[in-house]
Amino acid sequence: MRQYWQILKKYRWSLLASPLLIAIAVFCETMMPMYMSRIVDDGVMPRDLSVITATGLQMLLFAVIQLATSVANAYISARTSTRFGTDLRARLFDRIESFAFPDIDKFSSESLLTRLTGDVTRMQQTVFMSMRIMLRAPMLFLMALVFILMIDSKLALVLAAAIPLMVIIVWVILRKGLPYFLKVQRRIDRLNGVVRENLLNIRLVKSFVREDFESQKFKRTSRDLQETSIRAANIVVSLAPLMGFILNVSVVAVLWFGGGRVMEGTLSVGQLISFLNYLMQTLMAVMMFSMVVMNFARASASSERILEVLTTDPSLVDTPQALANDYSVTRGEVEFRGVDFRYGGGENDVLSEISFKVRQGETIAVVGATGSGKTSLIGLIPRLYDVTAGEVMIDGRDVRDYRLGELRLSIGVVLQKNELFSGTILENLRWGNPKATLEEVEDAARTAQAHDFVMSFEKGYDTVLGRGGVNVSGGQKQRLCIARALLRKPRILILDDSTSAVDSTTELKIRLGLRRVLAGTTVFIITQRIHTMQSADRVLVLEDGRIDGFDVPAELLKTSKVYKEIYDSQQFKG
Ligand SMILES: Nc1ncnc2c1ncn2[C@@H]1O[C@H](COP(=O)(O)OP(=O)(O)O)[C@@H](O)[C@H]1O
Ligand SMILES: [Mg+2]
Repeated sequence: MRQYWQILKKYRWSLLASPLLIAIAVFCETMMPMYMSRIVDDGVMPRDLSVITATGLQMLLFAVIQLATSVANAYISARTSTRFGTDLRARLFDRIESFAFPDIDKFSSESLLTRLTGDVTRMQQTVFMSMRIMLRAPMLFLMALVFILMIDSKLALVLAAAIPLMVIIVWVILRKGLPYFLKVQRRIDRLNGVVRENLLNIRLVKSFVREDFESQKFKRTSRDLQETSIRAANIVVSLAPLMGFILNVSVVAVLWFGGGRVMEGTLSVGQLISFLNYLMQTLMAVMMFSMVVMNFARASASSERILEVLTTDPSLVDTPQALANDYSVTRGEVEFRGVDFRYGGGENDVLSEISFKVRQGETIAVVGATGSGKTSLIGLIPRLYDVTAGEVMIDGRDVRDYRLGELRLSIGVVLQKNELFSGTILENLRWGNPKATLEEVEDAARTAQAHDFVMSFEKGYDTVLGRGGVNVSGGQKQRLCIARALLRKPRILILDDSTSAVDSTTELKIRLGLRRVLAGTTVFIITQRIHTMQSADRVLVLEDGRIDGFDVPAELLKTSKVYKEIYDSQQFKG
């Protein structure tokens, strides 16, 4: 609640004006039946046209005021709720941007997406609805009730039967519906997940001719959502008709008892008519209020999901030591001391007892089977994740003693799943370093063997890349990503299998280029290629999250079985 109030308090004037407008509108609305009864009793019955005209004009005036205030309130509500939605979305987005890798793992991107869109929209609707109805219903109820009691307190007993019945119905429906609302939201998450995965891999799906399979999967997920939604809707839809039924029965009851009283002469026809109108108003108010409560219940599912994100603090932040000092990475020595690591949700250590030391300017090849922990290991250096035990040191200082910004600025990373943004090639490269001159950009591109193919495009560096870089090949994308990392002029460069889609000749050129421009830079290269391993100063061999060997390539051939196997397997292929 506090989270929402922080946003809403900006609009407190609107939030104050709204009830005022509602009060005026409700006042006008409840005056109507009273005038109606006056027209019937003093105008129609005694056939006095002047009373009808005079009272009619007054009613018209009230109607106009009611219209004006209602429209004004609707306008204010729409404006406030839209702004609330925008602010909430911005807050959520900022929070998500501050998340570290482990936090994203926890929520999953799909779920974050639905929270940012669907859930926020529902909250926005709730604010809109609340501002229009939440206060209107009780005000209308109270005002109408006063008039009812004034007209005939005995006849008011009909309400005493109808209202508790309504409250019970609302309560039962809510109890039953609430669990389904939460479930619907989760199903939507799942559907988004399937759709997203499919759209990202649409080329793969097509080339494997798996459209049918994927389409079935989508339909199944979609049907799940449909079934849950229908079940939730089934519970809710019975609300309005049931309420309507109670209303109709109450009207009949009033006509029945009230008719008798008119014949007795204790009640006038006009009073009976106005009584009926007030009755409708009170019951309408109860119905409206039950709708609000229902909507609140549904919104609470969304609200929970939003607050879950807003109250999750990024799990990796600057430590007090880091903030107290302002160390910078100068040399780029890296040391692991007895490092164990496991992922947040995982049960086993992905890395165990990792200890090694790398000198400034060394090039280290990190090798091992898939799943051996290579990506996890290098992720610990720029603190994408934090170690579970032990420490990772840079220049003899724990990485947690550096500020995250400094750490990540001085470490260039090309992740295995690298991505480009939509925009021009130049924009994409400068994303690594907005201050880079055109010359620096071209130099970096040359080193990464990207310059030539970029120039072969008609618009060169101004070529617009599609979303995710769809219009360049996998190897070209990798080379652009390397260039982007180089522009940071990092002290430590990490390449996670970043040349896997590049041919061997080009890869050799990239390697030589890196060697030339990165004289003092420490480089970690995760690779499957034996040539790359052999050109490294030293090779770190991982097996099942443990170090199998760490030495110069020639020595490893004698000491590491794993390394020897890789070597042998690639001897004939070149
Ligand atoms: N984000 C993650 N959450 C949980 N487990 C993960 C995550 N990423 C990788 N793993 C697990 O950690 C192990 C090592 O993975 P990884 O470091 O990616 O290996 P490699 O890069 O050598 O192929 C694997 O068993 C993998 O399933
Ligand atoms: Mg990997």
